[in-house]
Amino acid sequence: MIFASGSGSNAQNIIEFFRKDGTASVEAVFCNNPKAGVIKRCEDLDVPCVVFDRDEFYNTRKIVDLIEAFDADLVVLAGFLWLVPANLIEAFPNRILNIHPALLPKYGGKGMYGMNVHIAVIEAGEEESGITIHTVDAEYDKGEIVLQAVTRIDADDTPETLAKKVHELEYKHFPLAIKKYLEKL
Ligand code: GRF
Repeated sequence: MIFASGSGSNAQNIIEFFRKDGTASVEAVFCNNPKAGVIKRCEDLDVPCVVFDRDEFYNTRKIVDLIEAFDADLVVLAGFLWLVPANLIEAFPNRILNIHPALLPKYGGKGMYGMNVHIAVIEAGEEESGITIHTVDAEYDKGEIVLQAVTRIDADDTPETLAKKVHELEYKHFPLAIKKYLEKL
């Protein structure tokens, strides 16, 4: 299962990877934003997309029950912006992975998502950035780190060019990290 709130380029990359690889499959995508680009990508890829709201996510077991009905082994957050509720963490202990577009523990936490991260990294004059794949617990960006990959920041890099470099790292490493994690389960 994949959760996404935005464009969904990582979700598409993961779906296509496992269609070629064959060791796993993405049975559905869950989305908390009816305007998200990921919905159209799912249509084009012929993958079910479940759009849900805050009440369903935080005040009911509907989403947990749906994921269990799909008999999912792993939940993957790919650009999902909401904090994961306790009932989902309890139902999938150490079986929820998130990707963050920076080298945690720096540049993580509430509000640190998408371009906000890259702007902060560039403004701080960092020499490198990257991605962090980690397990999900009750706090933003705090779980156990599963993988990090680094990219150099050049003098002429902007938040936009850094975002592009980081996306390239995500597309290269995230599907493989998911595959490796599934093999361990
Ligand atoms: C990615 O950079 C991911 O690290 C972050 O949100 C972005 C989602 O991009 N959490 P997309 O929706 O997969 O294109």
